[in-house]
Amino acid sequence: MIDQTLLPFAFNIVRCEDHHATCRAIQTMVTRGAGAIGAAAGFAMAQAALAGKEENYEERLVQARDLIASARPTARDLFASLEAVYQAALLSPAAALEKALALADQNAEAGRRIGQHGKHLIREGMGVLTHCNAGWLGLVDHGSALAPLYAAHREGRRFTVFADETRPRSQGARLTAWELEQEGIAHYIIPDNAAAWLMHQGRIGLVITGADRIAANGDTANKIGTLQKAIAAQHYHIPFYIAAPLSTFDPHCPGGDDIPIEARSEEEVHYQTGPDEEGVLRTVRVTSPGSPALNPAFDVTPHQLITGYITEEGIRTRW
Ligand code: MRU
Repeated sequence: MIDQTLLPFAFNIVRCEDHHATCRAIQTMVTRGAGAIGAAAGFAMAQAALAGKEENYEERLVQARDLIASARPTARDLFASLEAVYQAALLSPAAALEKALALADQNAEAGRRIGQHGKHLIREGMGVLTHCNAGWLGLVDHGSALAPLYAAHREGRRFTVFADETRPRSQGARLTAWELEQEGIAHYIIPDNAAAWLMHQGRIGLVITGADRIAANGDTANKIGTLQKAIAAQHYHIPFYIAAPLSTFDPHCPGGDDIPIEARSEEEVHYQTGPDEEGVLRTVRVTSPGSPALNPAFDVTPHQLITGYITEEGIRTRW
């Protein structure tokens, strides 16, 4: 997998030789984004199955399933593919691998189709705001929130993307900006607190973000900071869309309050990593020493603030 912790400063491929390593890669966000960690969780489960089918096979599968399930709590795709591959592994290791591969392909195809449905929302000259990274790095390919932008751009439409920097891990400033650069799409990285002002100035005509889990009533968990963008968008009457494959919808989760929200280490708030003048990656403290920090990784946007959901099956205005 691509090591997303080093992008955009270095492009490294990480090999995960067993399910422990793949699980660690999910925890440490070497791979991240709901679709990508869903696929990785499926492959981790398949790795556990492929490790050998001796007599305690089923016991080992359960241990592996519990370990992988504990990697990160919020993204529904992780649990959906984990369970599907676990069920296949009960039949055979080969069936587990086949399932993991099929789910990864399905995720990439869902991203492609989200792009085709969502591209009609993008108008020539428009300003589009996105939060975090829901591009081809966050899924197996194509992306969710960014897929419509890529599809529209490939058809010749020209527009500007505003990428929230997305503190503390800066997925917007590092990953979305890097993807947009590769795709040749005009964009600005903006501070997390700038969007409402740009909306006020009329520079943003549309907001699209991805999702980590969508409850049965349409409430949507996504990267922390999404909620405040949705509130601002409603104030300025700007359409706010969620783009996500159907695998992100959780029918067993009645509403937003039932979605488990990951709390990550306060170190992520206190320290930032980037290249110095010689290009050597350095980690520096950026907060007042001695002060504690809170680091909720996701928030929940209530369905009332969401204009529509772009899935592989089309756009629905209510879930
Ligand atoms: O903590 P992350 O980087 O895994 O969070 C990712 C997001 O919040 C994305 O917007 C989401 O997973 C949707 S699309 C990949």
